[in-house]
Amino acid sequence: MRVLVTGGAGYIGSHTLLELMAQGHDVCVLDNYSNATPEVLNRVRGLSNGNVTDFTGDVRDPAILNRVMQDFRPEAVIHFAGLKAVGESEEKPLLYYDVNVGGTLALLHAMDRVGCKNIIFSSSATVYGEPVYLPYDEAHPTAPMSVYGQSKLMAENILTNWAKATAGTSAVLLRYFNPVGAHHSAKIGEDPKDIPNNLMPFIAQVAVGKRDALTVFGEDYDTPDGTGLRDYIHVVDLARAHVAAINYADKSTGARPFNIGTGQSYSVRDMVAAFERACGSPIKTKQAPRRAGDIAAMQADASRAAAELGWTAEHGLDDMTASTWAWQSANPNGYDN
Ligand code: NAD
Ligand code: UD1
Repeated sequence: MRVLVTGGAGYIGSHTLLELMAQGHDVCVLDNYSNATPEVLNRVRGLSNGNVTDFTGDVRDPAILNRVMQDFRPEAVIHFAGLKAVGESEEKPLLYYDVNVGGTLALLHAMDRVGCKNIIFSSSATVYGEPVYLPYDEAHPTAPMSVYGQSKLMAENILTNWAKATAGTSAVLLRYFNPVGAHHSAKIGEDPKDIPNNLMPFIAQVAVGKRDALTVFGEDYDTPDGTGLRDYIHVVDLARAHVAAINYADKSTGARPFNIGTGQSYSVRDMVAAFERACGSPIKTKQAPRRAGDIAAMQADASRAAAELGWTAEHGLDDMTASTWAWQSANPNGYDN
């Protein structure tokens, strides 16, 4: 199938390109490189030995979208392009709504103009908010606690309305839990531009000597060791969920959300210990109060994805940390080597 991948030069997008190409799909990327570098696509081409068509531009721009739709004629779209920093979303709400909601609207308009009927959307478990029960299933109430989370939920709602109103269309809403890890080649991985907001890239930068110590945000949660519990998922498993979603969209109509997680959760201390096993040296930590907006625990009920997409996560915790370490140690400055 011809698959347009918006934000395909990013962390999850680049891994997804490789899985799509491995399954024989033709891929095309639209990215404005606001949080990525074109070097990513060179590496993807090298690893796949395949063709990646690419367009540089903003997903909110109808002119570039029209060009992509006319030149590539996608049969399906995977929509990764967006902004994802929770703290920044509180400071720049209009920018987040503009890119995450406005970008989705512009893309749907462009798809409608050429009759492209299938879309896979990068949503987040953050749409659930404070757990009423755990593990979250897809029927759990949605109550996002940040502008970022609101923007994802608004985009989900738009996609749901579109799929209902437009005959023959399918919108697969993938609610990711916590993506971590890197491709086994160690050639592509997560490369945060500034100080990492997320746990795993921060630990990796401590391990490689770029940061002094990990700040552990809160050791007084109601969890076994007092630190926050999360459902970490290997990025290659997450990438494969998109391939499964493409196949599902081809055979279904309407909009449907899916949790994409492992169903297991690990604490901050578990992650530090696992990373120490992977890199063979201690990770220095220091204690700090809870981070604003954090919740104690998150965990996916991923049974719907197993039953309907035929997808389950295969990689365990040690694969997540070992692949992160292999990527980080081979590319201490990310793609800026
Ligand atoms: P990323 O920043 O690495 O990738 C996003 C890509 O989109 C980048 O290549 C960036 O340059 C591009 N982009 C941003 N704005 C754009 C625009 N206006 N026009 C065109 N391209 C644009 O992030 P990621 O971690 O790969 O996340 C991909 C998607 O998954 C995002 O929508 C994010 O919100 C969502 N998501 C990520 C996580 C996570 O923890 N990484 C969790 C849940 C959901
Ligand atoms: C964060 C976002 C969430 C987003 C997710 C994936 C917030 C409040 N939430 O979630 O919306 O969907 O990333 O991008 O930002 N931790 C530390 N020290 C650190 C970093 C993190 O102790 O330097 C802890 C956190 O308190 C948490 C766990 O590690 O308990 C995981 O944190 P993180 O990787 O940021 O993910 P989330 O908090 O799940």
